[in-house]
Parts: sequence; structure tokens; C-alpha cells
Amino acid sequence: MSPAGNVLLLPWPALGHLSPMLQFGQRLVAKGLTATIVTTRYINKIADLQADPVAVATISDGFDEGGFYSAANLEEYLRTLVEVGSRTLSELIEERAAAAAPFTCMVYDTFTPWAADVAKRHGLLTVAFSTQSCAVSAIYYYVNKGILEVPKEGEKAAPEGMPEMVRSDFPSFVFDESRKGSQLTMATVALNQFNVKKDDLVLFNSFDELENKVTESLKKYMRVTNIGPCVPLSAASYGVPFTEVADETCMRWLDGNPAGSTVYVSFGSIASLSTAQMSELAAGLEASGKRFLWVVRSEERNKLPPEFLQRPPERGLVVRWCPQLRVLSHPAVGCFLTHCGWNSTLEALSFGVPMVAFGLWSDQPTDAKCVEDVWGVGVRVRTAAETGLVAREEIERCVRAVMEGERSEEMRRNSRRLKDSARKALSKGGSSDTNIDELVAFVNRKAA
Ligand code: UDX
Repeated sequence: MSPAGNVLLLPWPALGHLSPMLQFGQRLVAKGLTATIVTTRYINKIADLQADPVAVATISDGFDEGGFYSAANLEEYLRTLVEVGSRTLSELIEERAAAAAPFTCMVYDTFTPWAADVAKRHGLLTVAFSTQSCAVSAIYYYVNKGILEVPKEGEKAAPEGMPEMVRSDFPSFVFDESRKGSQLTMATVALNQFNVKKDDLVLFNSFDELENKVTESLKKYMRVTNIGPCVPLSAASYGVPFTEVADETCMRWLDGNPAGSTVYVSFGSIASLSTAQMSELAAGLEASGKRFLWVVRSEERNKLPPEFLQRPPERGLVVRWCPQLRVLSHPAVGCFLTHCGWNSTLEALSFGVPMVAFGLWSDQPTDAKCVEDVWGVGVRVRTAAETGLVAREEIERCVRAVMEGERSEEMRRNSRRLKDSARKALSKGGSSDTNIDELVAFVNRKAA
């Protein structure tokens, strides 16, 4: 028997990128490959990474003690990541080759194109992996290549394969003027991530049935291959690598709630709301009259209205972190008020939970647009122009619209349909499963 391919998985060093790549790695191992996920020493130190059966190895971003937070500024972090990351990645590849366990292929995050240069120098196959939607990735590509102009205020544009969009529907990095200069910023990272050739293989954490049209248009420019959703379809099997500890008490609390009665509220692992916005959200949830489970991370707690944490928890429970997949698969949950990070969006879709879409920045506004206008699985909040806030009345309106409004049943139907499609895509012979099989065969051919 010929040796199985040995894959090095290199995510961008953040939870939202690490998590889907790890899920993907576990699928590769289930199909007979060997896989190692490579993270920074800092992330490895702070995260409780339950990667098994994927192995874990580390490189350095130059900030082993404090990671990103200990760099003087973002630019310093990004420059050091490229420089020290390239060197230590190269050392890791050499070490494994010397130990007679050479890597065959590197799957690298599209945010780390420098890693592909390192892998190619060592003769590895390189495959790019995008942890964001095809729609968002396509917009970055089209804007960067001058195929698409970002519309001015009051105007609209229809990116290939997508509906008409106004300015605020675009991913926020396209408005960042730094993307045109030589300074290294998150906008330059996002906009330059697809400097690929037409026959370069780019994997997307998405599935054909979800993003059919935009997938087809992007195929004109690169070999787009959807392999998602990278979400475990059984909620029990999820090991989220994060420093906050999931609060299990919320599961017992949910057990006591009637089916479909509860709104689950979370803004993911990074987003930060203003104190004024937290107050509006708290008041809107109260006014909706619905039960709610709200994740407020430790560093956000002091923004809650003081009386809010004192109130009896019968109708609303606030936790620091929860086992999100188990929450989304709980029958008591009828709606997810989400910041529309791509992982949260895919998780809601995979578990058939309709959404109130409260996108903040980066890819989230575009994901929110798709939730409402492309997939019909939720409603989007509107920000008041005068205050820049989503008012309590708007929160109440959106929660009610999803939980009991005229179109609530239709949203639920669409959610169920996409949940089935997500599961089919990953089942034997499904679209994403077939794409993964082809990738595995490709890697094994190289290993032989
Ligand atoms: C980031 C970006 O913000 C997002 O827009 C991008 O698409 C990916 O990277 P993040 O903001 O953390 O990620 O959001 P998201 O992508 O939704 O990931 C959050 C993850 O944390 C999800 O997998 C979710 O299941 C998990 N989570 C969240 C928990 O397990 N428990 C919680 O209480 C809250």
C-alpha cells in the first residue's frame, strides 16, 4: 500500500480561523490522511486545543508570550508574523523531513499567502483555504482586481453572482483606504489574499447549494472548491479552542424552556459593543417578551446596565461563554441573534436556526445581507442614522419578526431546507464530500 499523504494545516492565528480548519483536518484524517494543525506558540499556550486525531505543532509569530496583544501595533505584529512565521515554518518542515515524516501538502489560510512561498520552496503541494464565505471572498477579489467598484453613498452595485448591494452591505475592509497603500493592515491582508492563478486550488468553508451562483462566477478566476460547512453535525463532538470556559448551567436552564421559545444571543469571540449599544440590546430583549440566553464575554461584562445582572434569571440568562453548537441544537432555541461571524452563520444554518442578523464589521455585514435577502433565513437589524445605534425598538421588532411574525414560518422552512442541504453536502457522495475525496486522492498521488 502506498503511504498516505501528510498534510500541514496552517490557520490564521485566531479562533474564527483555527476552528474551521481543525474541523476540516478531522475530516481529512477520517478519510485516511495524516494531518497536523500548526498554530502559534502563544495561541497554543492560551487555547485548550482539543485537536485529536489531528496532531498539533507550533511556529512562532515573534510574540510567544503575549501574541498579538504584546505587539506595539498591528503593523508590527503583521510584519513579524510574516518574517518569524516564515522562518519557523520552514524549520518545522525541515524537522519533519529529517525525522522521516515529511509533509506532502500544506493547506494554508488565504490570510497567510507567505506560507505558500515557504511550502513551495520545500516542494510541498499548496492548497489555499478561505474561512470566509464565497460571497465575501469574491467581493475582495473583484474589488482588488478592479472588476468591481464599491458603490458610493446612495448608489448600488451587483457583484457577479450576487444581488444588488448598497455600500453598507459590503465587507468593511473595502472602505479602508490603507488597502491601497504599502502599509500592512487587516484591510491589505483581506484584499490581497487571493493573488492566485486560475488553476490554483482554493478551498472554501461553504457548500455549493448555499452559494451556487457566486461560486460559479468565482470559478472564472480560480479553482474554487467548496468543502464545508466545517461544522460538526453532531453538537456533542465539538472542542472549541478558547480561553473562556463554556458555562454548562445554561443547558439545564434551556431544558426548562418550551420548544422554540428562546432567543440565543452572541457576538462571537472578538466583537465589542459600546455601552450604549449594550443598553439598547438589553432593553430590546426585555421588551420582546421572549426568553433569552445572552453570551457576554468577561471583558464586556462591565458594559451591561448594572441592574441587568441582578434581575431574576427566569426569563433571561447571561453567561460568559456557552457550548454554542449544543445551544443551537437545543429544541428550546427558536432564534439566534448573531453578529454573523461566518462560523456562527454556518452553525445556525447547519442546525436550522433562523437569525436576527446584527453584522458589525469585516465580513459580517455581507453575511447579514445574505441571511435576509439571499437565503431568507432571518432579518437584519437597521442602525439609526442619528445615533449610530440599533435601537431597542428595532431589536424588539426583529426578534418578534423571526419568532412570531408573518414571515416567521417561511424563514423556518428555509432554515430547515438549508440544514438538510448542509448535511447532504457532507454526507457520502454529497457535493462537499466529493470535493474532499478528490483533494485526498490528489494529496495521496503526490505522497505515492
Ligand atoms: C472571526 C470574525 O469576526 C468573523 O467575522 C470571521 O468570519 C471569522 O473570524 P468570531 O468573531 O469569533 O470570528 O465569530 P465566528 O466566526 O462566529 O466564530 C465564533 C465561534 O465561537 C463559533 O464557532 C461559535 O460556536 C463559538 N462560540 C461563540 C462558542 O463556542 N461559545 C460562545 O459562547 C460563543
